[in-house]
Amino acid sequence: MSTTFQLDTATSRANPTPQPMKRLTVPAIKRRKFEGKTEEPLVMLTAYTARQAQLLDPHCDMLLVGDSLGQVIYGLPSTLPVTLEMMIAHGAAVVRGSYHAVVIVDMPFGSYEASPQQAFEAASRVMAETGAAAVKLEGGQAMAGTIAFLSQRGIPVMAHVGLTPQAVNALGGYAARGRSQEEHEKIISDGKAVADAGAFAVVVEGVIEPIAVSLTQSIEIPVIGIGASAQCDGQVLVTEDMLGMFERVPRFVKRYGDMAGFIGETAAKYAEDVRSRAFPGPEQTYQPKP
Ligand code: KIV
Repeated sequence: MSTTFQLDTATSRANPTPQPMKRLTVPAIKRRKFEGKTEEPLVMLTAYTARQAQLLDPHCDMLLVGDSLGQVIYGLPSTLPVTLEMMIAHGAAVVRGSYHAVVIVDMPFGSYEASPQQAFEAASRVMAETGAAAVKLEGGQAMAGTIAFLSQRGIPVMAHVGLTPQAVNALGGYAARGRSQEEHEKIISDGKAVADAGAFAVVVEGVIEPIAVSLTQSIEIPVIGIGASAQCDGQVLVTEDMLGMFERVPRFVKRYGDMAGFIGETAAKYAEDVRSRAFPGPEQTYQPKP
């Protein structure tokens, strides 16, 4: 697909002029799974900035402003310290940079677990202040009441089950989930509970493949996998992982590029030019008019 915008370089390098194009909607995403099947898998990537959103938007059905931005953008040790203000600032940037994809913003740890009312207060801020189409929150059965409360009040919710990174302290790490029969059954019943509660889609992260396949086959809403199975209704990855920005990534990540290498090599060339006074050259300097 060709790009959906042109950069208006006369005003700002980050101020796109959109071509008229209707943005996808939450109901359209939900309808992609029909009679238990999704013909063409849904494509989702994380995005945290306007420019990143501009570049990813033409290729994605959904852009997720994930709370993974805590580690990816802010260098935090986990997603736990991420705040609602951070999510709102990055969510608004991603909405400004996109015209096609449905933008979903993660609810950060501590902003929604206490009660459906607390969740509504935080989620309604996200919706009003970012322009996003939906929020995502972690948890299965325990969050079903909250998902129903939000969905019935006009806030579409994407759920997240399996390995839920905000629960890293309770889970004891980021290892794949579902190796015991008890945990296997729990993840499936979590998926069913969030679907029954009105979630429009669910992310299933870091589970053994049979769980992902069975969950995908047993609920009517799209199941988006990460570290799950190609049989899911769609896939999501953290964009920086997929681009090769980090040396250490989880086993389930496929690196499609070597951005870390590219940035390092490019910075080295720039540093060499500065040190040898090759930059700036005549093309990059202003001279007095004759
Ligand atoms: O925060 C995030 O980026 C996520 C995805 C990995 C699903 O929740």
